[in-house]
Amino acid sequence: MSGVDSPPPADYGGRGGAVKQFDAAIVVNRSIAPSWRQIVVEWDRSAGRPSPGQFFTFRASSSTDPLLRRPLAFAGFEPDTSRASAVYEVRGPATRLLAELAPGSRVDLLGPLGRAFPPLAGGERPLLAGGGIGLGPLLFLAGELAGSGSSQKGDPAESSSAPGPLLGLGFRTAAAVPDLELPPAATICTDDGSRGFHGTVVDWLGGQPPQLARVYACGPAAMLAAIARLVRGRGWTASLSAEQWMACGVGACMGCALPRADGRGYLRVCTDGPVFNSPSPDGAEIDWAAAGPGGRPARNPASENEPGARP
Ligand SMILES: Cc1cc2nc3c(=O)[nH]c(=O)nc-3n(C[C@H](O)[C@H](O)[C@H](O)COP(=O)(O)OP(=O)(O)OC[C@H]3O[C@@H](n4cnc5c(N)ncnc54)[C@H](O)[C@@H]3O)c2cc1C
Ligand code: FES
Repeated sequence: MSGVDSPPPADYGGRGGAVKQFDAAIVVNRSIAPSWRQIVVEWDRSAGRPSPGQFFTFRASSSTDPLLRRPLAFAGFEPDTSRASAVYEVRGPATRLLAELAPGSRVDLLGPLGRAFPPLAGGERPLLAGGGIGLGPLLFLAGELAGSGSSQKGDPAESSSAPGPLLGLGFRTAAAVPDLELPPAATICTDDGSRGFHGTVVDWLGGQPPQLARVYACGPAAMLAAIARLVRGRGWTASLSAEQWMACGVGACMGCALPRADGRGYLRVCTDGPVFNSPSPDGAEIDWAAAGPGGRPARNPASENEPGARP
């Protein structure tokens, strides 16, 4: 696998600081839905201010199992207190260990990493769509766009003439909706119709008026593939954030690579992304339909390379 014609390395986007590894004090680590948790940590100010779309990686154990750091997207950042948050699904060994850490204990973090969501262009309406673990970055972005959070580099919040963001959040059923404060403009979408809009977040997006929009989305590959098709058909623009498995997390191993839409190699989620734009001025778009069967990447290099990994 090779990254033919990849764009130049990301600048890592952190505002006023550098990527930093540090032990962060945990302020909150609470259950918000079955298998879902919210974590709030004291963010080291010298690591710079994270932007929506960026992520950090964590190690919740000082042992070598699990060996590799795991990525989580920022779900919010409070500049006054320098507290950062994320929402996470307890899925495997790393998130199970993270869930056991009580407030007051510390977790090893590295960040901020990756490319942030870009600002709105003139006249674009922001439509935000999150599915599953894509919830966090969209909540962060919605706060920034509504001017209620910190300002973003480049700065969507400065588009004061633009209409406020509409946010659709997709869940299987009402019981999966997390206990979080959601923006007033949020529409809950449930597959089974048990709460809010009956249908997927892609159905909700498809029901929006056709005027020029920029879609910001994060979720499983199948959802992003459907959104990419919709956006192309409407002549909209999109900034889609991938949730791929990672190994090194810093661009060195190609463990997170996804295929380019133009067939010219691969793009790395950790440094070329996780946010990819469509259309992209340099042609660096992902072929979301080929990103993995059933909305999942085809394999998990991170877990496969670890001691005790699944066959
Ligand atoms: C940029 C980025 C941001 C992310 N942000 C978040 C976030 O905010 N919240 C959150 O909960 N998770 C997020 N993830 C995904 C998270 O990093 C993985 O779920 C991680 O692998 C969990 O580690 P684990 O050891 O608990 O489980 P693992 O043992 O690594 O995984 C357990 C099982 O979950 C499934 N799985 C794991 N990762 C993925 C994936 N990426 N796509 C599909 N299926 C997968 C596989 O079936 C795997 O066997 C993000 C990933 C990326 C790349
Ligand atoms: S995880 Fe190693 S290159 Fe992205």
